[in-house]
Amino acid sequence: MSTLLNQIDKELLPRHIAIIMDGNGRWAKEKGEDRLYGHFHGVESVRNIVEGCAEMGIEYLTLYAFSTENWERPEQEVTGLMELLVSTIRKEVATLNKNNIRLHVIGDMKMLPGFAQKELKEALEITKENKGLNLIMALSYSGRWELGNAAKEIAIQVKEGKIEVRDINEKMIESFLCTKDFPDPEIMIRTGGESRISNFLLYQLAYAELYFTQVRWPDFRKENLYEAIVDFQGRERRFGKTGEQVTKSIKTQ
Ligand code: IPE
Ligand code: IPE
Ligand code: MG
Repeated sequence: MSTLLNQIDKELLPRHIAIIMDGNGRWAKEKGEDRLYGHFHGVESVRNIVEGCAEMGIEYLTLYAFSTENWERPEQEVTGLMELLVSTIRKEVATLNKNNIRLHVIGDMKMLPGFAQKELKEALEITKENKGLNLIMALSYSGRWELGNAAKEIAIQVKEGKIEVRDINEKMIESFLCTKDFPDPEIMIRTGGESRISNFLLYQLAYAELYFTQVRWPDFRKENLYEAIVDFQGRERRFGKTGEQVTKSIKTQ
């Protein structure tokens, strides 16, 4: 068994891991290949990390696969990514079922081409009874889009007299987000070397531990994930309190 995996405290696993899968294009370029070649190889990392999370008993894994801003990329890349998405889902749905994994999607589904919407809907339906890992794909997603949408929805409900302005609070806002059924991620990993959030889960990452690695997404494997979790478990999460308060509350638990 991997020594890194042995170092992980199974009692202190994050419930929810979020990942910005970045670096596919540069990985391909470094090999003298086309960007799509990188995306294609990124799918192998998705398989490996999903499997790793399921094996550990992680409850939620959110993967940032395509952002609102990514629509601005060259048409050929966008089309290639959509086709890759559909062919991957088609191929993997049986494995998801076999491993008791439930698929979810967050993002502006209406923006996706019809064939992708159809494939996704079917996969959501087929996996909806699964009770193991919740695999959440962020597609045509961005935090600002999500928050704008929530604001619009809340405004409509206020206008229709369904909610009172004084009842708007954090809990209510959360109930209007795409992630309303999931806990906030405790850790956010970004591969590929950049140290930024790029419009991912802006509300939900408020207290997430951020972990940035140089490893390009197509090279990211279970061992890299274990390394991130070990790092996460070594951190002191204070949530605004003092270090003393936090250690005391752990000791008295
Ligand atoms: C991440 O890899 C995948 C998507 C954004 C769809 P990139 O395509 O952003 O790869 P780099 O950052 O250009 O290397
Ligand atoms: C973030 O990566 C989006 C995804 C991984 C899906 P980008 O490559 O689009 O982010 P920037 O442009 O470097 O910030
Ligand atoms: Mg990138």
